[in-house]
Amino acid sequence: MTDLIPELRTPSAPEGTGRVKSGMPVSRVDGRAKVTGQAQYAAEIHAPGLRYGVVASSTIARGRITAIDTAGALAVPGVVAVLTHLNRPKVRGFDLAYKDMTAPGGSPFRPLYSDQVFYSGQPVALVVADTFEAARHAAQLVRVSYQEEAHETNLLASLDQAYKPRPLKAGFTPPSSTGDADKAYEAAPVKIASQFYHGVEHHNPMEMHATTVVRGEDGHLTIYDKTQSSQNNRWYVSRAFGLPKDKVTVRNPYVGGAFGSGLRPQYQLTLAVMAALHLECSVRVVLTRQQMFSFGHRPETWQKVQLAANEDGKLQAIVHEAIQETSRLEDYVEVVVNWSGQLYACDNIKLGYKLVAHDRHSPIDMRAPGAAHGMHALEVAMDELAYKLRMDPLELRRINYADRNPLEGKPYSSKELGQCYDKGAQRFGWAGRPIEPRSMRDGDELIGWGMATGMWDSLVMVARVSAQLHADGRLVVSSAASDIGTGTYTVMSMIAAESMGLPMEQVSFQLGDSTLPFAPVEGGSSHVATVGGGVHGACDKLKKRLIRMAKAMPGSPLAKARPQDIAFEDGAMMLRHRPETAVPLGAVLAASGLDRLEEKFMMTPQMLKQRKYTRAVHSAVFCEVRVNEKLGIVRVTRVVNAVAAGRIISAKTAASQIVGGVVWGISHALHEESFTDHRFGRFMNHNYAEYHVATNADVHDIEVIFADEDDRVVSRQLGAKGVGEIGIVSTSAAIANAIFHATGRRIRSTPITPDKIL
Ligand code: MOS
Repeated sequence: MTDLIPELRTPSAPEGTGRVKSGMPVSRVDGRAKVTGQAQYAAEIHAPGLRYGVVASSTIARGRITAIDTAGALAVPGVVAVLTHLNRPKVRGFDLAYKDMTAPGGSPFRPLYSDQVFYSGQPVALVVADTFEAARHAAQLVRVSYQEEAHETNLLASLDQAYKPRPLKAGFTPPSSTGDADKAYEAAPVKIASQFYHGVEHHNPMEMHATTVVRGEDGHLTIYDKTQSSQNNRWYVSRAFGLPKDKVTVRNPYVGGAFGSGLRPQYQLTLAVMAALHLECSVRVVLTRQQMFSFGHRPETWQKVQLAANEDGKLQAIVHEAIQETSRLEDYVEVVVNWSGQLYACDNIKLGYKLVAHDRHSPIDMRAPGAAHGMHALEVAMDELAYKLRMDPLELRRINYADRNPLEGKPYSSKELGQCYDKGAQRFGWAGRPIEPRSMRDGDELIGWGMATGMWDSLVMVARVSAQLHADGRLVVSSAASDIGTGTYTVMSMIAAESMGLPMEQVSFQLGDSTLPFAPVEGGSSHVATVGGGVHGACDKLKKRLIRMAKAMPGSPLAKARPQDIAFEDGAMMLRHRPETAVPLGAVLAASGLDRLEEKFMMTPQMLKQRKYTRAVHSAVFCEVRVNEKLGIVRVTRVVNAVAAGRIISAKTAASQIVGGVVWGISHALHEESFTDHRFGRFMNHNYAEYHVATNADVHDIEVIFADEDDRVVSRQLGAKGVGEIGIVSTSAAIANAIFHATGRRIRSTPITPDKIL
């Protein structure tokens, strides 16, 4: 097999990289392609006769379109069509409300489906032109008349409308409870009760959402799309438009960040396909940064946490309730409170979770959905309780350390959180911390130290992987996985190279093409355990077959060797430490007259075993803030994030994931603030000038520590859990706690802006 994506060479390690082992810090194999601009993203693919689509968006939050005047747009030279709900081609899957594989319960949003407007910023027309400039200009000339209806976009004003999502319909497990938390709370000597508010956060990956549909002469659609799953989007396009599987290929070889925004097909994909089919040409649609502020977001959340303890700090009750917004179309659920029933030892736990339906686009997963807000509330509340008890906040966590999941009584598949506490505290220098707030100062700056515990689920899914050894010694491994900037190319190449004993530069991992073997969405920090487990499994099968073939070769030095005594090293098989018995892999293929040898493996989670355990990654975040007492400006000057996430395979890209999560935690804690003008039900500050995302100037020292952990329940093959999301979890809580330590101010909403501090 040659490269499946010939025009996009599959990246591999540079010559001279040599042998690698799990845990080594290897630079990313796609790094050079990315920084030299050779990596092509969805909006950079060219095609003959390519046309450009630009979306016009609604200006009202709820109502009906009464008329659309497209004459002005159509009069612009170069404009070939203006698609609206009035003239769009019939889409059978629309009428049946087909969903993608990751859709929550309810009815998915369908662009240009009808005259109904569900949210401000909804696409109401697609202008297609021969040039991008003509389409963009014409899109501004589309005139839409509406009949407005009353809308609701204010969470705190509509908490009384909260409802319990129906588990079956919304596809989730409602949080359970144990003991009698209300009674225990009343009876306990030390307690706190706090409310928390988190606003909307918007996905701001560097690359905008984009789709280029390349239409072949035979009508085949090759779709370059910004997505976390080429196969989910291939499946959705096929079903929605009634196109057979072999008529559509979706590719995402390079993705410039996604963070959850690419877990579901975004509307530019649907519109680009609609236009390409209607006009029988290649079409590209790129969303603007503004449009990306209203296509799904981390939902606004209100929470209440009550904690009660005995004088010695032992938790007696945990009560955690959350109300979160969703859209009127779907019950988007991220449960928010789940981790409060899994982390600390406590006999009385009560959890509650409700939704409020608003006139907005459905929220969509964003890095550690649910935990980012829920763990923030729990961990700030734990800090409050520690101060009530006049106890060191880390000591309070240690006192309530759980060896079993307190709700279900199950053991953890692995939980080296204690190591995270020890190593993180030591590295940070926590032991010298004075308990009193406002006790450290440097000129105008108050200094504070805070900490928090993080927890996130360890998911494993099903994947298929193919491993092909070529006669020239190259190993090509493939699966329809994604690399959204996380390091998938690198870690999968490492796993394969280590397993086969090949220099890393001889290995390439192909991903990002829907025709490759099945892989799930790149989400839920699951790719390494899932696809990586598959890579390991496929290489194992390949080795077994090679051993059989080598033993059967005439005069083979391995003829009588036991398979367990054979090692794979430097492109050959040999008896351990006996290089004179080496049989080059190429010679094995040549002896059989093969130019390549392929094995496929299906990775499945160990369901029965997994069910007996709570499976999670943990972290301990320590941070230092400096707060300017006169200006209220906060700098997060030091963060140590100690993470227990199973075996770490690719040390460099794994640490980068944690650093990225911490940066976002800083952004969440201090900067990102979305304002809605409720009169219009519209996000107001949908741009980088007014919605501040942490930049280099906001980021100081960040140190990552990985605990020694090996989890063979989550990952039989690798012992790995996942690192994509845990870095953001509780970083914002550690910062809020450090701000309390610095200033004596307890702030229970994010972002913690100077006005809240002064
Ligand atoms: Mo992630 S929010 O699982 O892409």
